[in-house]
Amino acid sequence: MKAAVYYENGDPGVLSYEEVPDPNCHPKGVVIRVEAVSIEGGDTLNRWRGALVTRPHVVGYQAAGEIVEVGVEVTNLRVGQKVATTGAFGSHAELRAVPARTAWPIPEGFDPKLASVIPVAFGTADDCLFEFGRLKAGETVLVQAGASGVGIAAIQLAKRAGARVLATASSDERLERLKTYGLDEGINYRTSDVVESVMRLTNRKGVDLVVDSVGGSTLQGSILSLAYRGRVSMVGAAGREPMTVDVSSMMGGNRSLSGVFLGAEITTDRVHNNIQRLIDEAARGEFEVVIDRTFPLSQAAEAHAYIESRQAVGRVLLIP
Ligand SMILES: NC(=O)c1ccc[n+]([C@@H]2O[C@H](COP(=O)([O-])OP(=O)(O)OC[C@H]3O[C@@H](n4cnc5c(N)ncnc54)[C@H](OP(=O)(O)O)[C@@H]3O)[C@@H](O)[C@H]2O)c1
Repeated sequence: MKAAVYYENGDPGVLSYEEVPDPNCHPKGVVIRVEAVSIEGGDTLNRWRGALVTRPHVVGYQAAGEIVEVGVEVTNLRVGQKVATTGAFGSHAELRAVPARTAWPIPEGFDPKLASVIPVAFGTADDCLFEFGRLKAGETVLVQAGASGVGIAAIQLAKRAGARVLATASSDERLERLKTYGLDEGINYRTSDVVESVMRLTNRKGVDLVVDSVGGSTLQGSILSLAYRGRVSMVGAAGREPMTVDVSSMMGGNRSLSGVFLGAEITTDRVHNNIQRLIDEAARGEFEVVIDRTFPLSQAAEAHAYIESRQAVGRVLLIP
């Protein structure tokens, strides 16, 4: 099969398009013919400095497509079925093997391109808001990096749950585009101070919950933006900065900081069923899956470079 591979970590230019051996089907797994690869923020970070567990390494968490092989121990999936899949690596390819537990059937008529985006971005946003963030209707949420894959999912799910939604982004144009998805107030962090803006927009109370996938100095701003009993769901390090923060404001305000890692619970019934529910809701049009651009798989390097140029709002896909 063809795949986008690399032999060393680095900039998008390390990606090349090559012939590699087909993946093997595990007895408890399936192999799919990939129709769409959703490039995750974690894929660009892994390419930059993640472990190369295969050589050459095929990076990538998420892809959707048609099942072409089913492991002998798998009873709930069949050849010909369309599924959205997640795995530790291997999405940037024509074929990918995953455990059956991280393959979710796509409802009839729902575009696999849209389904490919849902498990990690929406599953993570949902956990940040509800399981770990304990969001209630009427509360105010701040979504850091609102134009990111996790960010747009969080904005839509928070709005649907009856929250007031604030978000940050690196330009006014990006914030403007987020209004369609439920953003109430945008903060351009390049031109305004985030904590000061949050305090102005909340009558100096602060926000009840922050979804922070950026980390570093942004995470410090998230902590300082919290209301009494406010919570931060700390879920990523897109800013590529050290995670050193001052937590001295937390205790006095009964505030909390929760780390969120979807991968740690993705094979549990709770998360597995949650992701299937989100796929079914997206198929019914209950929220929008935002795709910014698609590239052919052979142009994975260009697609990664485009994402890192910070122009994308929502997901960038690769099509084999
Ligand atoms: N823990 C988990 O379970 C989990 C699950 C999913 C994702 N994540 C993590 O969450 C983070 C975001 O993932 P994603 O898929 O939403 O990412 P994404 O769609 O690629 O978006 C990342 C966003 O971060 C912002 N950003 C801020 N500083 C940046 C920098 N120095 N370089 C690049 N972007 C920067 C950019 O928006 P602006 O230009 O508007 O600032 C960019 O759009 C990643 O670190 C990922 O690994 C964790």
